[in-house]
Amino acid sequence: MGLNTLFVGHRVNVLDKVDSTNVYIRELLEKAPLDEGLIVWAQEQYAGKGQRGSSWLSQPGVNLTFSVVLRPHFLAIKDQFWLTKALALSVAEFVSSSFDAGLVKIKWPNDIYVNDRKIAGILIENILEKSLIKYSIAGIGVNINQETFDPSLPNATSLKLVAGKEFDLRACLEKLCVSIEKFYLLLRNADYKKLDESYHKLLYRKDIWSKFSLNGEPKEGMIKGVSPSGHLLINTKTGAEIRSNEALEVSDVKHLVFL
Ligand code: BTN
Repeated sequence: MGLNTLFVGHRVNVLDKVDSTNVYIRELLEKAPLDEGLIVWAQEQYAGKGQRGSSWLSQPGVNLTFSVVLRPHFLAIKDQFWLTKALALSVAEFVSSSFDAGLVKIKWPNDIYVNDRKIAGILIENILEKSLIKYSIAGIGVNINQETFDPSLPNATSLKLVAGKEFDLRACLEKLCVSIEKFYLLLRNADYKKLDESYHKLLYRKDIWSKFSLNGEPKEGMIKGVSPSGHLLINTKTGAEIRSNEALEVSDVKHLVFL
């Protein structure tokens, strides 16, 4: 690609069909080291992986489903949420630059939402060496030109649905590479303040009282932010009272569904 990046997307392997681009890269890494920035892009995944063991369903040939190899060996395992922030910001930047109107948000930890609907998801899998991250396989799925979704995904949307026009997939991938590199370099340069401020600015439902199901339990509360280690900070209400003025760290939030 004639790309304006230092390394992200300099090599793109395009596959017709694969189980999952994350799995494919992991298998390559078992055989040989890979360059940072390598992208594996599949037209079709027959076993696409989502977060928490779910699957990622994407109509073949109309969306972006790819993984990028990163080598954030400067990042300790305990700091891995910074990579989540950097990648979520890059996908959010790409999405918001693709149309004029609409509110782009990051639903904790790293789902990208437009007007309360999910447009993209990210699955980061790390390969560790001692206490450091040797490789990160950052799998990104963005709904680009898909117009109808499986009934199991009632809350999904795509760029085409929000912008009302068709997008060129390769041009989208190139734009995304630029954003990925931009935010990854902020991370590499330890610009945590910028990353943190930008992430919190886009955090879905921040400072809004919301009803949600937290690990399966109905709750009412207000998201105040995310701790440096990636835990969601929520103020909860008991009856009419706010339980704490201080944000309460809910360290075991694994699954948050807004009701
Ligand atoms: C989620 O929101 O649950 C994460 C979805 C991640 C999907 C992408 S598509 C490319 C890469 N390969 C996979 O198997 N999953 C990720």
